[in-house]
Amino acid sequence: MRETASSDALLSWYDRHARQLPWRVSPQDRASGIKPDPYRIWLSEVMLQQTTVAAVKDYFLKFTALWPTVRDLAEADDAEVMAAWAGLGYYARARNLLKCARVVTDEHGGVFPNDRDSLQALPGIGPYTSAAISAIAFDLPETVLDGNVERVMSRIHAVEAPLPTSKPELMTLAQALTPQKRAGDYAQAVMDLGATICTPKSPACGICPWLDACEGREKGIASELPRKLPK
Ligand code: ADE
Repeated sequence: MRETASSDALLSWYDRHARQLPWRVSPQDRASGIKPDPYRIWLSEVMLQQTTVAAVKDYFLKFTALWPTVRDLAEADDAEVMAAWAGLGYYARARNLLKCARVVTDEHGGVFPNDRDSLQALPGIGPYTSAAISAIAFDLPETVLDGNVERVMSRIHAVEAPLPTSKPELMTLAQALTPQKRAGDYAQAVMDLGATICTPKSPACGICPWLDACEGREKGIASELPRKLPK
């Protein structure tokens, strides 16, 4: 009989296989009480909106060396920030980044808010980035649904409906799996699973912590999912 996917199985895999990323607090450090800096989580999530992890790493290190706090960034010259962003693309993100740093500094005393409405009122923060910040920075049980998570959810539940039609269904499935505890580690664990094991073309099902729970694998269609509407 197929097992059901559990956040515990994924978290225990993440405890052993979490990627080391410059903005990430490891699950071991997290367990010992070290909390992520919301500024660094916000900065990384804005950079990661349309850019790969590999491309973001050096920019993230450059930005946090130049501007270690949101207040430092708020006080920076526009031209200097735009120059530091050069090469990352989607320059509206950099303009919103500065606007957001200034609003957080001027209107929130330099402290990132943790509730959805206040986060989404900030420049450049939509539902996805808001959920990622709430989960990763504040450990709130918010569900993060990016392309990686859509792929993982569509496969473990063998969702045949194509994207983008299936998005609401994938969100419901992803919400059902989101744990109340360790929500931040869990959000990052699903992303890591999608990036390293449940990859688009040749998923490494043999070493997947959700192997026995995966309906797509059972049906032999994992690598075909998610289906997409023809363009
Ligand atoms: N993609 C978007 N956010 C990410 C994160 N926090 N870690 C890894 N990949 C990501």
